[in-house]
Amino acid sequence: MRAGVAAAVFLAVAVSCAAAAALPMFAEAPEYRNGEGCPAAAAGVCDPGLVHIAMTLDAHYLRGSMAAVYSLLKHASCPESIFFHFLAAEAVGEDPGPELLRRAVAASFPSLRFEIYPFRAEAVAGLISASVRAALEAPLNYARNHLAELLPRCVPRAIYLDSDVLAADDVRRLWETRLPAAAVVAAPEYCHANFSRYFTPAFWSDPGLGARVFAGRRRPPCYFNTGVMVIDLRRWRAGNYRQRIERWMEIQKEKRIYELGSLPPFLLVFAGEVEAVDHRWNQHGLGGDNVHGSCRPLHDGPVSLMHWSGKGKPWDRLDAGRPCPLDHTWKSYDLYIPSDGNAASPALGPALSASLFSW
Ligand SMILES: *[C@@H]1O[C@H](CO)[C@@H](O)[C@H](O)[C@H]1NC(C)=O
Repeated sequence: MRAGVAAAVFLAVAVSCAAAAALPMFAEAPEYRNGEGCPAAAAGVCDPGLVHIAMTLDAHYLRGSMAAVYSLLKHASCPESIFFHFLAAEAVGEDPGPELLRRAVAASFPSLRFEIYPFRAEAVAGLISASVRAALEAPLNYARNHLAELLPRCVPRAIYLDSDVLAADDVRRLWETRLPAAAVVAAPEYCHANFSRYFTPAFWSDPGLGARVFAGRRRPPCYFNTGVMVIDLRRWRAGNYRQRIERWMEIQKEKRIYELGSLPPFLLVFAGEVEAVDHRWNQHGLGGDNVHGSCRPLHDGPVSLMHWSGKGKPWDRLDAGRPCPLDHTWKSYDLYIPSDGNAASPALGPALSASLFSW
């Protein structure tokens, strides 16, 4: 009996070590505490004083997610009043699964308030059509469609963030965005972008689709980026918005109305209906393109959130020794410990990272 227990314990340890080897190592982030004037310590996830952030977690982008969380805490006036909701890929192939991801997050952020929600790829598998970039077809890209169902019903609103972002400002300011009664989603809009090119000629020439889809919206349809969104979860649930998005994914399977992945169905449902947020909250496109070696600068204007959207990622460029200028800012939040044992920059202390954001 006793030997059996010992064997089981040994087995459990051996299994978790084998799987853990798939996850990179991360340093522990500095601890951040609520300042004066913050809400009282939250009793639980339903506490009305909390700011709710939703992100996805998987092995591939974990390094980005860790840096994003670190940046959000560092710039928050009330870091202990932020609750993180992580949608984690289930353990398949190289993905370690929700439990190991939970341990990795808890190890780097011991006092973080967070919950992990396993996201089953089958939930979207039958709905995903081939797109121009394989990375855009990953089931986890569609997890944002399921937030309203996965998060506790007492959570009234969530800020969805991609894993390749860094906060440079207090996210509570974004949280406090006013949503008029007609709006379900708030996000920065880009009305100078050519909206037509997000959909195929087949879409625009179809008499039942095209401009007709956007007729009667609150405003003319504009592009917005789904990597930073404030979502009213109550209105989302009441309006069955996941089903509305998925109806477009079904049409896509028959008619090929767009080329990108999870973004166009969002545009089809929400363009012209979103509440515009200041552009400072999504300084996007910083990913540029690694293959062509292109770097993108910040857009004009203030910066509250930087977004390395695009094909290139700062961690890949840093590892390759060819960082873009702004990648050095990202590096100051990188908790990754390379397997050769040299700790990443946070080991040098928060004072260094603080200086990098003083521009
Ligand atoms: C916008 O894109 C469409 C489709 O690619 C193109 O036909 C049109 O000329 C573009 N419009 C402008 C103003 O660039």
